Amino acid sequence: MKARGSARGPLRYPAAMPTISRKAGSFAESVIRDMTRIALQHDAINLAQGFPDFEAPQTLKDAACEALQGGINQYAITWGARPFREAIASKTRRWYPGWAVDPERDITVTCGATEGMMAAMLGILDPGDEIVVFEPFYENYGPDAILSGAVPRYVTLHEPDWSIDEAELRAAFGPRTRGIVLNSPHNPTGKVFARAELELVAALCVEWDAVAFTDEIYEHIVYDGEHIPMATVPGMEDRTVAINSLSKTYSVTGWRVGWVIAPAELSSGIRKVHDFLTVGAAAPLQAAGVTAMQSPDEYYEALTLEYRVRRDLLVAALQESGFRTSIPDGAYYVMTDIRDLTDEDDVTFTRRIAAAPGVAAVPGSSFYAHREPGRTKVRFAFPKRHTTLEAAAQRLRAIRST
Ligand SMILES: Cc1ncc(COP(=O)(O)O)c(C=O)c1O
Repeated sequence: MKARGSARGPLRYPAAMPTISRKAGSFAESVIRDMTRIALQHDAINLAQGFPDFEAPQTLKDAACEALQGGINQYAITWGARPFREAIASKTRRWYPGWAVDPERDITVTCGATEGMMAAMLGILDPGDEIVVFEPFYENYGPDAILSGAVPRYVTLHEPDWSIDEAELRAAFGPRTRGIVLNSPHNPTGKVFARAELELVAALCVEWDAVAFTDEIYEHIVYDGEHIPMATVPGMEDRTVAINSLSKTYSVTGWRVGWVIAPAELSSGIRKVHDFLTVGAAAPLQAAGVTAMQSPDEYYEALTLEYRVRRDLLVAALQESGFRTSIPDGAYYVMTDIRDLTDEDDVTFTRRIAAAPGVAAVPGSSFYAHREPGRTKVRFAFPKRHTTLEAAAQRLRAIRST
């Protein structure tokens, strides 16, 4: 860039335009959040971003109002209000007996799982460390790794059942491997990792002294199989960083409250990063989180049951409309193959159907580092009212004729 000058002589410093960092320049804006903007622009039914269009549980809203009115309006302790950490620990023990979680040392409350993953990677990884990420992946993990200076090593989950090729996974581990990201139930495929798969990952983590960063925010949305927390797999409790959140289980994605459970040594790094990133999550919503953690078993049973109905509704509608789909075992997304419907790539197709007939979805390539396998795929989300899904189904049927 040329130095600017004036009649009074040259400026003392070359006046280049300020630029963003190489880190920020090396990843794109979120495609998922972008599709939400496109949905709004076309008044499309938004099956792109995974958030409910139905109300949060009344008990939680009441608890949040009570906390606000009751004076819980100042900073909580940076790593989380004690009653909330205690409630998280006792809920974790209730669901997964044997997983010893110390609320004083092992838990950091964060602004959603999003901050949880970011703070965990920043607190544990060093520049140049390698981190294994299964592909397709939830799009945040790439930028999370880049921001923490780590190098992602992608390992493909193979269709039709999104299985792991053991040789490929083994080949991704090496002396620089410091961690692996594991998201089960999985976004975008709905895969629920089986015990044997977790044991394979665990064996490699032990062999290479790596940490499992597990994103477990869909733990209670499982239709087939069971959610097995990595921390409960033998040998893994001391090398698992379990990330979770209120967002999905309690239908409060806007509250931005999550948490990380990790051994005390790792938690100390996560807590420091978290403190300087955000100081803390919203105090009154942490108070309401105690009520969430005390939800009875029936709450979780109803949640899964309701999501199963929504899943079946959307899968049937997609199949009738000409999409090839895999049927998710967990989480609330359907990954589809569009090759029977169009020759367009995923981005062109999703933009077209958002405009008309007006259904927003996410281009499959945004879940792949090597974009190609995603070009024929599109992801739909179903945390929506039945009426929304039925209206979407009606519109989807129009795609074939356009
Ligand atoms: C796998 C996964 N992790 C994390 C998040 C974000 O979670 P939170 O709202 O707790 O930040 C999402 C949201 O869609 C997700 O699908």
